[in-house]
Parts: sequence; structure tokens; C-alpha cells
Amino acid sequence: MWTVILIISLLKVIDAANGLDAFHQKYKLLNDGNVIPALAFGTWANTSDLHKVIPSVIYAIEVGYRNLDTAHLYGNEHLIGEALSIVFERGLVRREDIFITTKLDVSVPSREMVIPSLQKNLWRLKLDYVDLFLIHTPYNTFNYPNYDILDIWRGMEDAKKLGLTKSIGISNFNSTHVNRILKYGKIRPAVNEIEVNPTRTQLDLVAYTQSQGITVMSYAPFGYLVPRMSNEFVPPTFGDPTLVKIARKYGKDTSQVVLRYLMDRDTIPIPRSHNPLHISTNADLFDFSITQEEVYAINEFNKNLPAYGSGEGFTRLIRQAYNALLQTMALLYK
Ligand SMILES: NC(=O)c1ccc[n+]([C@@H]2O[C@H](COP(=O)([O-])OP(=O)(O)OC[C@H]3O[C@@H](n4cnc5c(N)ncnc54)[C@H](OP(=O)(O)O)[C@@H]3O)[C@@H](O)[C@H]2O)c1
Ligand SMILES: *[C@@H]1O[C@H](CO)[C@@H](O)[C@H](O)[C@H]1NC(C)=O
Ligand SMILES: *[C@@H]1O[C@H](CO)[C@@H](O)[C@H](O)[C@H]1NC(C)=O
Repeated sequence: MWTVILIISLLKVIDAANGLDAFHQKYKLLNDGNVIPALAFGTWANTSDLHKVIPSVIYAIEVGYRNLDTAHLYGNEHLIGEALSIVFERGLVRREDIFITTKLDVSVPSREMVIPSLQKNLWRLKLDYVDLFLIHTPYNTFNYPNYDILDIWRGMEDAKKLGLTKSIGISNFNSTHVNRILKYGKIRPAVNEIEVNPTRTQLDLVAYTQSQGITVMSYAPFGYLVPRMSNEFVPPTFGDPTLVKIARKYGKDTSQVVLRYLMDRDTIPIPRSHNPLHISTNADLFDFSITQEEVYAINEFNKNLPAYGSGEGFTRLIRQAYNALLQTMALLYK
């Protein structure tokens, strides 16, 4: 009798411990009280690869990703919506088990257009709310007169108050942009999604952002370890001795070490892949962590080299992507 009770209570303790562990390892608390899964799946795809989005997203959810990153600009929200309908229907996950991040249309000129625009994101995604809604870029992509990022931020605050998004945040904001929102905004951004990887470590921006209680999501987590548009070769490679040594120590792949490095800097990496093997290895990060010394060793690869350009170059890319998107969308929703 007592043995049975003892075993039951022991099992309960183990259960609680596991729950706590899972919480600390796999979720992070945002500054607005919401929780976010500690790893996200990137969904951007080249126009010629759009047909791979639905199967990749479904597979990602099957292997355990619970956080999807998309944007109006990616022209794939309708595909994410389709994939979600399928996984909900199959009972793989419920809406409340999955965290959806999307971003504001870069052509929105002012506060009052934010909510109507978000309603279109939601319609494409077939959702009645998103978990996180981000301003995609601090820059005035189309050079609107009187454009003010703070005015747009007030529209984001309106969206959160209406419950159309659980959390609001920013993307590609440098510390000057972040500071302006902190000074004049009413709601603190929950997240800043920026490029962070071994060749662009962003030590200062990550430190400032985190010191203000804002969670960093790291895009282009593989930096120049994978081919980029510029076709530039920049070390390290996945075969780099520093990375290989760390990977051997933990019995992991070097790609997993790079993602774990971003997690051990307290950021949320957003790897993207259409390859089932990569999709699953990129998610298998929760049974190890690297030391501070190893984080410093990887920081040494920094060249502050952006994968997607910076300043005007970055904005030009966004404008190009937007024009390509208009053509795709014109075909889809005449
Ligand atoms: N907020 C913004 O402005 C912004 C800008 C850029 C990106 N993002 C977000 O961040 C996500 C990721 O950024 P990114 O697209 O630059 O991604 P990335 O994950 O750094 O690189 C993707 C590339 O890495 C390859 N890859 C993935 N896993 C691999 C592995 N284990 N081993 C070897 N190669 C691997 C992929 O090829 P395979 O398909 O063959 O695996 C793909 O070519 C995007 O999808 C998007 O959601 C946001
Ligand atoms: C998209 O794919 C085309 C070929 O289909 C290629 O020329 C182009 O470089 C790709 N763009 C990116 C950003 O990978
Ligand atoms: C942030 O970008 C703006 C340009 O939009 C620039 O004026 C400012 O100096 C930058 N701040 C930092 C800290 O780099």
C-alpha cells in the first residue's frame, strides 16, 4: 500500500521536474508574460521553391518545431495557412500549441492602416490571431513623406489591445531605433528579430536589446556557412576545426553547435530548410549546451558581415522582394 503511494508520489515529482525542465529548455518568457518556444522554423522560400513550403512546414511540426516565422513579404502566408489547416485537422497540434510570428506589410504608411493590414495577414493565414506581430523593418521602404516608425508602432499597440496578436515586436531595429520606441512607445517590444550568426555576432545590439528585456530572435542563423546571394566565401565552414572540436565533444554536428551557440546566447534561432534531414537535426538541440568559453571562441569568427546587406542595400532587397510579391499575389488573389 505505502509502496504504491510512494511510487505514485515519486512519479509525480519526476513528472513535475520534467515539466519544469521542458519549460526552461524549450520555452522563454517574453516581457509581456507570454511564452515563446526557444527555437523557430524559418519559412522564407525563393519563388521557385514555394511548392516546398507546405510539406516542409508539416514535417517541421511533426519533428517538434512549435514556432513558425513568416511575413507578408514572403508571399507564403497562404501556404502556411494551408499547412496549419492540415496539421490541425490531423490533430497533430492545436492552435494554442503553436506559436505563429508574422510581419507587417512594408508598404503600410501609417498607424490607422496597421489593423486593416494585419486582418489580411490573418485572412491569408486562416487564423483569428497571431502570437507575434513584428514591424519588418525600421526603414521607410517606399520613401513616404512624413513616415514615422513611432506612428506605426502605435498601430501595433492597437493590434495587441484588440487581441489580433498576443505580442508585438520589431525586426531589423538597431539600438537607436529600439531606443526611440522605448522612449515614446506605451508598450515595450517583446522581440527584436535581427541577423545573428558566427560571422555577424552583433554583440552590442544583442546585449542592448536583452538588457531592455527584449527577446532576440536570430535570423540567417547559418550566416556564411551556407551560400548567400553575394557568393562570397567567408570562414568558418561546417568543417572548421574550432566547430568540429566542440561538436565532437558533445557528439553533435557542427550545424547543431552553431544553433546551440545562438541559444546559449539566449537568442531564438530561426533555421530554414527544405531538407528533411536538416529540418530534424536543426531541431535536435535540447540535450546539450556549450560553455561560455566555447561561445567566446565562436564569437571570434565575427566579421560584422550581413547576409542580406545593410542600410540602403537591405532596403533595396526588400523593395525587390516586394515587387516580386506583387506579381505573385496578383495571380493568386486577382
Ligand atoms: N526579419 C527579417 O528581415 C528576416 C530576414 C531574413 C530571414 N528571416 C527569417 O529567418 C529565416 C532563416 O534565415 P535564412 O533563410 O537566411 O536561413 P539559414 O537557416 O541561415 O540558411 C538557410 C540555408 O541553410 C541551409 N541549411 C539549413 N540547415 C542546414 C544544415 N543543418 N546543414 C547544412 N545546410 C543547412 C538550407 O538549405 P537546405 O534547404 O538544403 O537545408 C538553406 O540554404 C528565414 O526563413 C526567415 O523566416 C527574417
Ligand atoms: C532564387 O532562385 C533563382 C533561380 O531559380 C536564383 O537565380 C536566385 O539567386 C535565387 N535567389 C535567392 C535569394 O536565393
Ligand atoms: C541606426 O540606423 C540609423 C539609420 O536609420 C542611423 O542613423 C543610426 O546611427 C543607427 N544607429 C546605430 C547605433 O548604428
